[in-house]
Amino acid sequence: MRAIAIERFGGPNELKAMDLPRPRADRGEVLLRVVSAGVNPVDAMICAGGFDGLMPHDFPLIPGWDVAGSVEELGEGVSSVRKGDRVWALARKASIQWGCYAEYVAVPESSLAPMPAKLLFEEAAAMPLAGLTAYQCLSAMGGIGGGSRVLIHGAGGGVGHLAVQLARHAGAAVYATTGSDKLDFVFGLGAAGVIDYSREDFREAMGRLCPEGVDLVVDLVGGDVTAHSLEVLREDGRLISTVEEPDAEAAHKRGVRTRFLWAEADGEQLTHLAQLVDEKVLRPHVEKIYSLNDAAEAHRRVREGHTRGKLVLNL
Ligand SMILES: NC(=O)c1ccc[n+]([C@@H]2O[C@H](COP(=O)([O-])OP(=O)(O)OC[C@H]3O[C@@H](n4cnc5c(N)ncnc54)[C@H](OP(=O)(O)O)[C@@H]3O)[C@@H](O)[C@H]2O)c1
Repeated sequence: MRAIAIERFGGPNELKAMDLPRPRADRGEVLLRVVSAGVNPVDAMICAGGFDGLMPHDFPLIPGWDVAGSVEELGEGVSSVRKGDRVWALARKASIQWGCYAEYVAVPESSLAPMPAKLLFEEAAAMPLAGLTAYQCLSAMGGIGGGSRVLIHGAGGGVGHLAVQLARHAGAAVYATTGSDKLDFVFGLGAAGVIDYSREDFREAMGRLCPEGVDLVVDLVGGDVTAHSLEVLREDGRLISTVEEPDAEAAHKRGVRTRFLWAEADGEQLTHLAQLVDEKVLRPHVEKIYSLNDAAEAHRRVREGHTRGKLVLNL
């Protein structure tokens, strides 16, 4: 099968077109014919060796954890889908080698779900990891509801633009940080207040927009943003970061709670997200669709860290 893979860790130039054997669907797995594959910052981190020692891997390594495609073959014991079904999945497995930048990928049945009826494959492929991450951040540690106040950092990116829509749908007042070129985009997603991080310290802006402090910060940026976010929480507020483990001691001193969140594959949650898409509550934004052979170009873009919504590869 056609695939884009690396034979050693490095930058985007290591991504090469290869002819590799088609994976098989093991027991409990489904083989998918990939129509579109989402590109995530983690794909570029993996290719650069950033997960070496954290997760087992092997070369040639096909990156890619997001897929939208059709069911090609059922492994033993699989009963929830049929050949030809249109599905989406977070295709992450215990070890990294046979990812979605390829004509076929095998995924656990429990990680996939029917894709939203109203999305094109290239829109659907933009959502599994980012959508599940957004959903799990907003449901963790007690979740949010009507009247909650939520600050989302990195709101114009892959996870952030979906998190703003989901938080808004839950009835929260959503505040967001983003760069200058995405202010209108983020307002358009339903944020009540949008802060241009390149012009204003978000702590000062939040002092003006929400002086009582927020119930939840979703940190999709890391570094100083994680550390300084403790200052904009109300007492017993929560900070969830997808980038790094927040400082527990500093949090304890301020009387707030924190955690690092590692998104999990979850077919049931994807079914729920599909429903929200079909109800027009949630919509992925795709900045650019690349052909599979241009995966290196997509990695150069995602490594810049300024994506508006998502990047996708079409097979
Ligand atoms: N732990 C997990 O399971 C998990 C899952 C998914 C993602 N992640 C991580 O979460 C992070 C976000 O993922 P993503 O897919 O949303 O990335 P992304 O699509 O690259 O988006 C990142 C966004 O952050 C914005 N940004 C950069 N610096 C900022 C700052 N100082 N303040 C506010 N916004 C800033 C960028 O926009 P501007 O152009 O406006 O700067 C960009 O839109 C990445 O580090 C990713 O690896 C972790």
